[in-house]
Amino acid sequence: MPSLKITVIGTGYLGATHAAAMAELGFEVLGLDIAEEKIDLLRAGRAPMYEPGLEDLLRRHVAGIEGSTGRLRFTTSYPEAAEFGDVHFICVTTPQKAGEYACDMSYVDAAVASLAPHLSRPALVVGKSTVPVGSAARLGQVIAGLAPAGPDVELAWNPEFLREGFAVQDTLRPDRIVAGVTSERAESLLREVYATPIAEGSPFLATDLPTAELVKTAANAFLSTKISFINAMAEICEAADGDVVRLAEALGYDDRIGHKFLRAGIGFGGGCLPKDIRAFMARAGELGVDQALTFLREVDSINMRRRAHMIELTREALGGSVLGRRIAILGATFKPDSDDVRDSPALNVAGQLHLQGAQVTVYDPKGTENARAVFPTLRYADTALAAAVGADAVLHLTEWREFGELDPAALGEVVTERRILDGRNTLDPAVWRKAGWTYRAMGRPTA
Ligand code: UGA
Repeated sequence: MPSLKITVIGTGYLGATHAAAMAELGFEVLGLDIAEEKIDLLRAGRAPMYEPGLEDLLRRHVAGIEGSTGRLRFTTSYPEAAEFGDVHFICVTTPQKAGEYACDMSYVDAAVASLAPHLSRPALVVGKSTVPVGSAARLGQVIAGLAPAGPDVELAWNPEFLREGFAVQDTLRPDRIVAGVTSERAESLLREVYATPIAEGSPFLATDLPTAELVKTAANAFLSTKISFINAMAEICEAADGDVVRLAEALGYDDRIGHKFLRAGIGFGGGCLPKDIRAFMARAGELGVDQALTFLREVDSINMRRRAHMIELTREALGGSVLGRRIAILGATFKPDSDDVRDSPALNVAGQLHLQGAQVTVYDPKGTENARAVFPTLRYADTALAAAVGADAVLHLTEWREFGELDPAALGEVVTERRILDGRNTLDPAVWRKAGWTYRAMGRPTA
C-alpha cells in the first residue's frame, strides 16, 4: 500500500478524476475545492460533471459510502490540506481571459497563495493545470517566499493529457508521464506516485520545468493543427467535388500521419484546444517569438470558419434564409460522452441560427442543462424524435452514438422536410438517402 498522502486542489474535470484515480491506485487522498456545492456532491459519491466511469470510482473510494475503501475524502480547508498531504496536485482551471487571448492564471495563483502559507512540513507541490510556459518557475518562487518549511517544499510540473469522455481511462493508463522537476528528490517523489501497478508501463519522462509545461501546450497545438488541416482539405474537397472522409482514410494509412484526429466537420471546441492555442500565441508574443506561432492564427480561423460554413450550408439548404424556419439540432456538447458545452461548435451554431430568426430545437443526451444555462432562449427537447417534430432541416452537430443509431424512416415521419446536414460526417449517407432524405455533409459530394 503506498504510504504517500495526496491532496488534489480543484475538483473539476481534471481534479475530480485525478483524485478518484489516485485513490484507485491505493493512496489516501484529500480533494479540496472552494465550491461547497461541488464538495457536497463529491462527498455523496456523485461527480460534479458527466464523465463515464467516474461515479463508479468515487463510490468505490469516498469515505462514508457503504462498502467503500474510505481512501478518498474532501474538504474546503487549505490548512487541513496542507497538514494532510505529502504531494499536493494543483488541478484548477486556466480559462481564457475575457476579451484576450492570454490564459487567466488567477485560479492557479490563488490556489498556490492559499496553500503555501500553511506548508510547514516537507511537501511537493505538483502543477497539473495547463499554463503558459514560465509559470512553474514563477510559482516556485512564490512558494519559496511563503512556505514556512522553506526549501523543504518544492514545486514540480506534471501536465495531464486526459480527454473528456475518456478521463478515467486516460488517468489510470496514461500514454506518458511527464515530470518537470528541479531536483532528484522531486523526481523520486513523482516516480513513487506513479510506481503503482496500474500506471506501470507508461514512459516516464523527467524534464526541466519549461519543457514539461511546453509538452502540454505543444501537444494541444499539434492536435488542433491536425484537425484544422483536414478541415482545410474539406474546403478543397467541397470546391473540387472530392470526399474528405475517403481522403482522410487514405492519408491515415501512412503511419507517419495516422488516422486519429483527421475527422473533418464543424471543428474543434471545448475548454482546452481553442483557448490553449490562443494562450500559446499570447505567450509566444510575450517571449518575443510571436512569428513562431503565427500559423496557429490560421489554425484558429480555419476552425472558426467551419461553424460559419455550417450556417451557410443550412441557409443554402433552406433556400437562402433561415428566418422562421424550424431547425432541429442534434447535439449541444463539444464532443460526445461529455456534458461540457464550453466553446461548443454545436451550441454556437444553434445559437447563431436562433439569432438569425430560425426556430431552433436542441436535443443532447447529457448537455441540456449546461446548454440551457448558456442559451436559455433556445428550445430544448427530451429526445431526438421530439426535437425533429415539424423540422424543415435536421442538423447533426455532435456525434453521440445514439444519433448513429437513429432510424431515418421513423424520423422522416415527424419532420416537415427530410433534409439532414451532417456536421460531423459520421452518419451513413447511403442509409439516409435510401430513406428519402436529402443528406448533406461537410467536404463530401452532395449525392
Ligand atoms: C483535448 C486533448 O485531446 C487532450 O489530450 C488534452 O488533455 C485536453 O484537450 C486538455 O487539454 O485537457 P478534449 O478537449 O477532451 O481533449 O477533447 P478532444 O477529444 O481533443 O476533442 C476536442 C475537439 O476536437 C472536439 O470538439 C472534437 O469534436 C474535435 N475533433 C476531434 C474534431 O473535430 N476532429 C477530430 O478528428 C478530433
